[in-house]
Amino acid sequence: MPLTLSLRVANALETPADLLVLGVWGSAAPREPSAGKDAKPKPKKGLAESLAPLDHRLEGGLAALLEREEFTGKRDQTVVFAGMGRVDFQRVAIIGLGPRAGFGDVEARSFAAKAARIANAEKAKSVTISLPEGLETRARALAEGVELGAYRFTKYLTGDRKPKSELTTVHLIPSGKAGGGAAAKKELELGQGIAAGVLLSRDLSNEPSNVLTPAALATAAEVAGKMHGFKVTVFDFEEIKRRGMHLIQAVGQGSVHEPRFVHMAYIPKQKAQKRLVFVGKGVTFDSGGISIKPAAGMGEMKHDMSGAANVVGLMVSLAALKPKCEVHAIFAAVENMPDGNAYRPGDVWGSLDGKSVEIINTDAEGRLILADALAYARELKPDLLVDNATLTGAMVVALGNTCTGWYANSEAAAREFEGAVKQSGESMWRMPLLDELKEGLKSDVADLKHTGDRWGGAITAALFLREFIGDTKNWVHADIAGPAMSERAAGWWGKGGTGHAVLTFVSLVERASGK
Ligand code: BES
Ligand code: MN
Ligand code: ZN
Repeated sequence: MPLTLSLRVANALETPADLLVLGVWGSAAPREPSAGKDAKPKPKKGLAESLAPLDHRLEGGLAALLEREEFTGKRDQTVVFAGMGRVDFQRVAIIGLGPRAGFGDVEARSFAAKAARIANAEKAKSVTISLPEGLETRARALAEGVELGAYRFTKYLTGDRKPKSELTTVHLIPSGKAGGGAAAKKELELGQGIAAGVLLSRDLSNEPSNVLTPAALATAAEVAGKMHGFKVTVFDFEEIKRRGMHLIQAVGQGSVHEPRFVHMAYIPKQKAQKRLVFVGKGVTFDSGGISIKPAAGMGEMKHDMSGAANVVGLMVSLAALKPKCEVHAIFAAVENMPDGNAYRPGDVWGSLDGKSVEIINTDAEGRLILADALAYARELKPDLLVDNATLTGAMVVALGNTCTGWYANSEAAAREFEGAVKQSGESMWRMPLLDELKEGLKSDVADLKHTGDRWGGAITAALFLREFIGDTKNWVHADIAGPAMSERAAGWWGKGGTGHAVLTFVSLVERASGK
């Protein structure tokens, strides 16, 4: 259920809720950014002006508390205390925003998410957020933030483990007289609509593999399509085989849960200028297959369909954005299992576009299903083709578990993607498609092997995928293996599936739509 969100000019102290959140600029930041370089910065000591009314209500108690806590307003510094009947709030949280310079939509989103996380931790059903000056114009980012920050995956908790209260209502209160009205309302709705896509992606990612089978993932896409008005086509196993998607067949045939292939399409009312195609890896569980993974941490491989979840989430976000370009989202859903009928190392299988592939390690399954999905996607003649996948452990070794590594086959595609990454604020870093590593994919018995040696494993995976994009001029491959799930809450992430990359894809579409 989306939150009930409002942004209107009022007195925050007279907008009762379970929790009051106040964002405070870091004291190191000059009060007036335009004051000129000769203006002396205000002394660091003392209470921020915006806190004076609350301090007054608490009879000077706030100033004393913040002094004791050494609160300076640096980013993410937080002090939480009880209202104790002196204010119309059970709890009060003061959050440092850091310097005002460089504080944009991304920072506003993080601030709002933090407020929502505190609301959850404090068991608040309602929260009043007092916005410092300047944030009243960032309604969309704030809405994204509270929705994403409030998210928890509690579906399977029962009894005492089930949270008894849930955040339902958020009042955003500007500090000045500006803000609110119909424009703010529209932006809030847009932010919530975009967040809904990210939240769906997280839900799908978090769902255990006994529930989210390939068929269930395809059904989730169909349900989303019905709800949000985009077209969904699903191929069952028979159709996958009939069409010659043998790499998807190879990976999927070791599981009793048969593969699916899904194509979602958003066609705008006006004639579209551009066509974007997104592809995701949908391995609902990756045991490694015959090249089975070690037991430790194998359960995390329920998240191995996060790339597919992201493209479904993206389509839901687009229902709110209504872009002027055409967007397609495609994924293959399979379960990678060891079994009497499983594919094996040493096998040779044919791809949708007629290449023969020697199987080296059945745990490198993602690039195989993506190869067929890319060969299908390229037939749509996209202006930009983007795939995303929890593809390699090597990517996590290279960039850690918060950052996506991405590759582009043209500078035009790279510029677009880089711009979208800047706008979304998601952590992503460009990687090189090193042609000298192509050597590693040479096979003696087939057109190519699907893995090289250990070194540069994330790059050889990308090089393998590139073999299947045909003459597509603008292609981006994003390896989301690290950030697809998180062990802790941070920024606008919670624990578990993050939906990381959906916001960047939304920005990409926005840019292509000319909005
Ligand atoms: N799904 C994994 C990659 C992965 C690892 C995702 C860790 C998230 C966290 C992928 O299918 C895989 O197993 N890749 C192998 C490839 C290797 C066999 C060439 C890997 O990275 O070890
Ligand atoms: Mn694998
Ligand atoms: Zn995998």
